[in-house]
Amino acid sequence: MKVSTLFAAAALLPFALAAPSAKPIILRDLAKPRFFGAAANTTFLFNDKNYTNVISTQFSIFTPENEMKWESIEPEPDSFTFGPADEIVRFAESVGAKMRGHNFMWGNQLPPWVNASLTATELDKALKNHITTIMDHYRGKIYAWDVINEMISDNTPNETFKDNIWTQKFGEEAMPKALAYARGGQTAQALSDTLYNVAKGFLADGVPLDAIGFQCHFTLGQVPSTLQQNLQRFADLGLDVAITELDINIHGPANATALAQQAQDYWTVVDACVQTQRCVSVSVWGVSDDHSWIPNGAVLPWDAEKQPKPAFYAIADAFEGKPEP
Ligand SMILES: *[C@@H]1O[C@H](CO)[C@@H](O)[C@H](O)[C@H]1NC(C)=O
Ligand SMILES: *[C@@H]1O[C@H](CO)[C@@H](O)[C@H](O)[C@H]1NC(C)=O
Ligand SMILES: *[C@@H]1O[C@H](CO)[C@@H](O)[C@H](O)[C@H]1NC(C)=O
Ligand SMILES: *[C@@H]1O[C@H](CO)[C@@H](O)[C@H](O)[C@H]1NC(C)=O
Ligand SMILES: *[C@@H]1O[C@H](CO)[C@@H](O)[C@H](O)[C@H]1NC(C)=O
Repeated sequence: MKVSTLFAAAALLPFALAAPSAKPIILRDLAKPRFFGAAANTTFLFNDKNYTNVISTQFSIFTPENEMKWESIEPEPDSFTFGPADEIVRFAESVGAKMRGHNFMWGNQLPPWVNASLTATELDKALKNHITTIMDHYRGKIYAWDVINEMISDNTPNETFKDNIWTQKFGEEAMPKALAYARGGQTAQALSDTLYNVAKGFLADGVPLDAIGFQCHFTLGQVPSTLQQNLQRFADLGLDVAITELDINIHGPANATALAQQAQDYWTVVDACVQTQRCVSVSVWGVSDDHSWIPNGAVLPWDAEKQPKPAFYAIADAFEGKPEP
């Protein structure tokens, strides 16, 4: 079944002639009351017609893939480049979708001027200015902000926080600082087991944390069986949860077996969100396999020709409460 072809048919045929089976599958509708989202990329937004077609019709929330990352949006001190991110915000408005802001505190994709030569006081001033200027610019236009991104160490439990400029200069105060500057925005993102204790501690200390995003860049066949339980325990702390960067890496040619497994993996992740009352959205990190940050992984629900893959139908099934493929 070709979604783009069906759109054309639905638009051209008189209503009475359109067979019921020709009704296109629109994931943003099936996801309700949750949001179905994608990372949007201005390189392709208006320059690849088939991409534009899919991204205009299937999603109800967008995250800028790179356009709001520090090196892109504040490349020089107090000199902001809002243009590309504004383009995505306007696009989202034009298709009735919401926006996630992404992100304020991360160890990667920083401009050269944010480096170890800054004193803690200078870095603090830069962080506060960065967060408040961007939030002022987008006030009223962002559904949730990923305030913090990937700050929990991969070497947990030996190490709680990642070693980056933020933890080097601010230690344990790094995350509370960013959250405090962003108060008025809504959401924070990070991931891992240690995060649970960190989040619990933050809430006990009155740090303004509202939600946790789970990235979910998985390898084929390796979706943790505990994903729903994990979402649930954060929800039970009184936090909203979201799947924020989902893709499933096939790590090889996409034969029928791999595509079937990928569909099952997508179903498992989306179903985990559907089974968690406080899970507000599922966002895929990109749209089609040709425009992913992972080349040759066939990681997304649409193929390079922007045709829906088995994963697309599995996502639809999960949102509709149908069993796994
Ligand atoms: C490090 O940051 C300082 C202050 O922003 C800047 O003057 C300096 O050029 C930066 N160093 C590098 C190697 O970019
Ligand atoms: C944690 O430290 C212990 C003892 O030094 C070591 O055996 C273990 O491999 C470390 N774990 C990680 C994930 O680094
Ligand atoms: C299908 O693809 C997977 C993943 O790339 C690979 O491991 C497997 O060997 C392939 N199977 C066939 C029959 O080609
Ligand atoms: C868009 O995605 C491509 C990868 O396909 C990446 O190289 C490029 O930097 C992205 N563009 C933006 C503006 O994020
Ligand atoms: C766009 O979609 C059409 C119809 O499915 C297809 O024939 C064409 O090859 C696609 N173009 C690109 C650049 O992917």
